[in-house]
Amino acid sequence: MDIKGAVALVTGANRGIGRAFARALIEHGASKVYAGARNPEAVQDQDLTPLRLDVTNAEDVAAAAAAAGDVTIVINNAGIGSGVGLFEGPFDGAREAMEVNYFGTWAVSRAFAPVLARNGGGALVNMLSVASWRGAPPFPGYAASKAAQWSLTDSLRQALKEQGTLVVGVHAGFVDTDLSAWLDAPKITAEDVAEQTMQALGNNWAEVLADEPTKYVKSVLSQSLNEAPNS
Ligand SMILES: NC(=O)c1ccc[n+]([C@@H]2O[C@H](COP(=O)([O-])OP(=O)(O)OC[C@H]3O[C@@H](n4cnc5c(N)ncnc54)[C@H](OP(=O)(O)O)[C@@H]3O)[C@@H](O)[C@H]2O)c1
Repeated sequence: MDIKGAVALVTGANRGIGRAFARALIEHGASKVYAGARNPEAVQDQDLTPLRLDVTNAEDVAAAAAAAGDVTIVINNAGIGSGVGLFEGPFDGAREAMEVNYFGTWAVSRAFAPVLARNGGGALVNMLSVASWRGAPPFPGYAASKAAQWSLTDSLRQALKEQGTLVVGVHAGFVDTDLSAWLDAPKITAEDVAEQTMQALGNNWAEVLADEPTKYVKSVLSQSLNEAPNS
């Protein structure tokens, strides 16, 4: 699809990967980018259009779909970690990750599917993770939320094909943002993820595998766990 002249909405666009998505859309010629944010005043970029949007708040989601009826690209980026260990600690963080990463994405996708249909199909992009396909003992709740979000993305891709909506799943390992600041590990930049996503949109690709760890995990998924190395 053509990004030039498109009208886009990015959730969680005030910082991190969401802000990089918003900036990349502008750089690729989008005519308007709604920057969804829990606090619209946190959106500093003058060329973005701030929009109050807590993805877990049904009223916010409905109001956003009414206010941004001109969008042709929706990027579900908003997300949180889960902060609960596998064998100890309360489940609250894991439940919250499901609320934001999974149900939040679902709610926004539901609300905007008719908007995209009215505007000719457009594209729906979901910011996923390598954790969609691989569990993570240090953050199992986050990984489960990303697996659920990947499954949702697959359902959306099948269901929205008829109305001509391109559904893109973006998977990455660690990206250098506040979310991964606690971790000392190789990371790619948010700008890299955003640029690869713009390329996917421009080429009508359904998937972005943004780094080598993600490409590796995807490549061994077809193997039996009895054969796969490091399973
Ligand atoms: N960083 C990584 O290593 C990595 C890797 C793969 C995938 N991802 C995914 O990339 C996405 C963005 O993550 P990030 O690294 O950019 O994280 P981040 O820097 O922590 O930013 C998270 C963004 O999501 C927003 N957000 C959180 N809860 C929200 C809610 N209920 N409604 C609306 N917005 C909400 C935050 O808003 P506030 O400023 O109001 O908190 C912030 O704008 C997430 O889906 C994450 O799972 C990240």
